[in-house]
Amino acid sequence: MPPHESRATVAAPSLAAGVDTAQLALDLPARLPALAIPPEWKDQQRLWGHSFHPMCSYLASFPAALAHAFIARYSRPGDVVLDPFSGRGTTPLQASAEGRIGVGNDLNPFAHLLTAAKAEPATRADAATRLTALRLAWRSEAPAWQRIADAVMAPGPEEGAVLVPAAGSASPASAGTEPVPAEVSLAFHPRTLAQLLYVRTTLDLADRTDRFLAAALTGILHGRSASYLSTLMPNTFSMAPRYVREFAARTVFQSPERDVFDCLAAKVRRLHRDFVPASAGVALLGDARDVTPRARAALRHRGLPDRARLVVTSPPYLRVVKYGYYNWLRTWLLGFDAREIDRTLDDAHHREPYLEFMRDVLAGLRPALTEDAIVVLVIGDVETDRGRAIRGGIGLAERVWETAASPEGYRLAGVAIDDVAANRKMTKLWGDEAGRATKTDRILVLGASEQGRRRALAGAGIDVDWTWPPRGLRAI
Ligand SMILES: C[S@@+](CC[C@H](N)C(=O)[O-])C[C@H]1O[C@@H](n2cnc3c(N)ncnc32)[C@H](O)[C@@H]1O
Repeated sequence: MPPHESRATVAAPSLAAGVDTAQLALDLPARLPALAIPPEWKDQQRLWGHSFHPMCSYLASFPAALAHAFIARYSRPGDVVLDPFSGRGTTPLQASAEGRIGVGNDLNPFAHLLTAAKAEPATRADAATRLTALRLAWRSEAPAWQRIADAVMAPGPEEGAVLVPAAGSASPASAGTEPVPAEVSLAFHPRTLAQLLYVRTTLDLADRTDRFLAAALTGILHGRSASYLSTLMPNTFSMAPRYVREFAARTVFQSPERDVFDCLAAKVRRLHRDFVPASAGVALLGDARDVTPRARAALRHRGLPDRARLVVTSPPYLRVVKYGYYNWLRTWLLGFDAREIDRTLDDAHHREPYLEFMRDVLAGLRPALTEDAIVVLVIGDVETDRGRAIRGGIGLAERVWETAASPEGYRLAGVAIDDVAANRKMTKLWGDEAGRATKTDRILVLGASEQGRRRALAGAGIDVDWTWPPRGLRAI
């Protein structure tokens, strides 16, 4: 056994108070070698990186600065950088913004929308022109939509009695295709709801500019400040529908009137503070286990190199996040089925099926990688899920190495540990109790081959420039 894979010790330093020591003795895998990458991403400002990143909050996303720490070390301009679990699109956007070819894939249609809006964004001019057109058309269509919204909100008829056009169905003439959930109508002022019904019917998610506007709209749908369309819920995630109904009844909640077009225009201006990356990235919708043929075909189709030199990704955590349920208001806006999202995603695994899943992902990824590729896996050490202990969550990165990556021929460069950032992230999500949901993020750095492993070791010591925006990249 090579010295860097010594089984002598157990990884005690990351343990939190309250963890059962007997479980440790039984369950913890061997310590893996540390990779000396300074976690400088923790020292950067919260919104470090391209101004498209905070388009919409997304559960369990990593900071753009973390992606940069690896993109800057382990890839060159023109290289393909891939994330098979791209979430809000952090890796592909940051890669594109640094002159690489950013490729993101996710099975969640909401994540795909956010990734696509960042990988293939609307220009400032196109977004402004489309917004003006929507605003003008609204002037003539407002009375019809207001009648629909008022009927939806009128007390009396049972929930679902009034039908509205489906998201993306383009015309109010096709009115009458779906009910509006009661919690949706509770969340908005009648005029804001009328505008939202109009905009969600009109925007075409297959169109680049409309997709960008829709993604920006999800980011301002709910939150506590005046830039949001509903103040009923925090910005980070949607509260449970039952809680929303009870809270609204108890507090006789009335959302302030917010103009969708004004709020969206302000949001788009904030997003366009930075340059649009000179070369577009690629956004794919599908299972990470079969991302390779789809990614390579999409890259070849664009005349680009079809293998990734770097993967920076964080696979779904063990039973932590329900992306549909926690985004039900956003999925309503977009016309996606929240339950179907939670049924499909791989966020509800226990440890053994999770490890098998990871092995399939890593096996499937190999033909998408260059010979000297580096794979960076950000893996949460999940100890508790909203207060309840999860067996097998501790030492997950080590398990992924032993049972998923090593058998598939990857070479281990080492593990970087990032505890502060993870703690801050989860505490923000669920408050104090859930501050313990993910105690540490371990960053597993692998080579696709011995060449990749050597490159990962050599690159670890490189100094990274944290100037943003980077020198030498021009706005277009
Ligand atoms: C931890 S999040 C990634 C967050 C991302 N790094 C970011 O910064 O936004 C994991 C992602 O895996 C996605 N996912 C779950 N199962 C999947 C599967 N089988 N194939 C592809 N994506 C999947 C989820 O939708 C989620 O976006």
